[in-house]
Amino acid sequence: MLLSLKVTYKTATGQDYKAGSPPVDFSPVSNNGPTTTQDEDFVDPWTVQTSNAKGVDYDKLIVRFGSSKIDKELINRIERVTGKPPHHFLRRGIFFSHRDMNQILDAYENKKHFYLYTGRGPSSEAMHLGHLIPFIFTKWLQEIFNVPLVIQLTDDEKYLWKDLTIDKAYEYAIENAKDIIACGFDINKTFIFSDLDYLGMSSGYYKNVVKVQKHVTFNQVKGIFGFTDSDCIGKINFPAIQAAPSFSSSFPQIFKDKKDIQCLIPCAIDQDPYFRMTRDVAPRIGYLKPALLHSVFFPALQGAQTKMSASDPNSSIFLTDTPKQIKTKINKHAFSGGKDTIEEHRKYGGNCEVDVSYMYLTFFLEDDDKLEQMKQAYTSGALLTGELKKVLIETLQPLIAAHQQRRKQITDEMVKQFMTPRKLAFDF
Ligand code: TRP
Repeated sequence: MLLSLKVTYKTATGQDYKAGSPPVDFSPVSNNGPTTTQDEDFVDPWTVQTSNAKGVDYDKLIVRFGSSKIDKELINRIERVTGKPPHHFLRRGIFFSHRDMNQILDAYENKKHFYLYTGRGPSSEAMHLGHLIPFIFTKWLQEIFNVPLVIQLTDDEKYLWKDLTIDKAYEYAIENAKDIIACGFDINKTFIFSDLDYLGMSSGYYKNVVKVQKHVTFNQVKGIFGFTDSDCIGKINFPAIQAAPSFSSSFPQIFKDKKDIQCLIPCAIDQDPYFRMTRDVAPRIGYLKPALLHSVFFPALQGAQTKMSASDPNSSIFLTDTPKQIKTKINKHAFSGGKDTIEEHRKYGGNCEVDVSYMYLTFFLEDDDKLEQMKQAYTSGALLTGELKKVLIETLQPLIAAHQQRRKQITDEMVKQFMTPRKLAFDF
């Protein structure tokens, strides 16, 4: 209830609730901007909240955001065009929405190039499981399409939004880069950049930032992001910085003078406001609109009402957690859709739709048959919550240990190489 009141407060004032302090310079946001919540789901780049234990209603979100559903037909087309079986994130609706993916496939079929762009806001040293989702999927896309990839680390964004020094934000960017590299990206096909570094190094990038700035008004960003008159001007400008990597001329070292290489952005759906804005300005500054693939959120351990958050250690499984921590967190905190007693559970069965352990398995247990078995056994009551949790623990422990192992091998020299503006293994 308190959470939902806080969301209502933010909807009305555009500001985070702080006990005992009335809203600053309050003037109601005219069009309710990002926070329209007839159905009580709240989704913007900073907050995800719903009152429904099953999580956000993604079908409604597609309608509200005006994107398109990734349907069977599109998945089949991806399979046809690439000759590779679709990733389980596609098969299971984890990437569920898109904009213009058919255009990308047209281009690919016609042997035209495109590139991938994704990013990460380095708000802390500790990345959690949820942060891996877009990167795991992006790596798969890079492999099946064999295309260049740029990864933006928005250390500037986190400096502007959080209580962090510039140096700390930059340090987190470098630390996060190691976790990203550990996902297995190809050093010859991937450019990772910190905004704090690259913006001052690339006139191509900065020129595009300024072009976007000139074509978006304060009124528009207020409408899209809910900024108010008391937000610092850095925040108001930031959307232009996240928009510009969608244009190939921001990376002349990779694309030479080519301005028309199409961009595909895999991201969680909360980042869509940035790219709605980008797609709106693109034709007005002579560029192609980026295409998008949107994922659902990775639920917090406590339930799908909100996403995992790095600032709440009990809501998340971190990439640095030990096998023991993983086990304890899941056993202690993972919200269960099971019944209160064994007798009742055996009789009525568990509810996979709200069970966090089951949800996590849909992300990380790749074997479709085994997942289906779990679902049936849990729903029928044959499988108990503790047993389901055990399967999850045994799935995540080796996965995270392997990640830690790979991360250990990443040297400062490798990070530097990934982050140096350079030509990649593609000729443009
Ligand atoms: N703003 C994003 C975050 O806070 C980071 C980001 C920058 C990003 N560019 C992106 C995410 C492109 C997805 C795609 O995490």
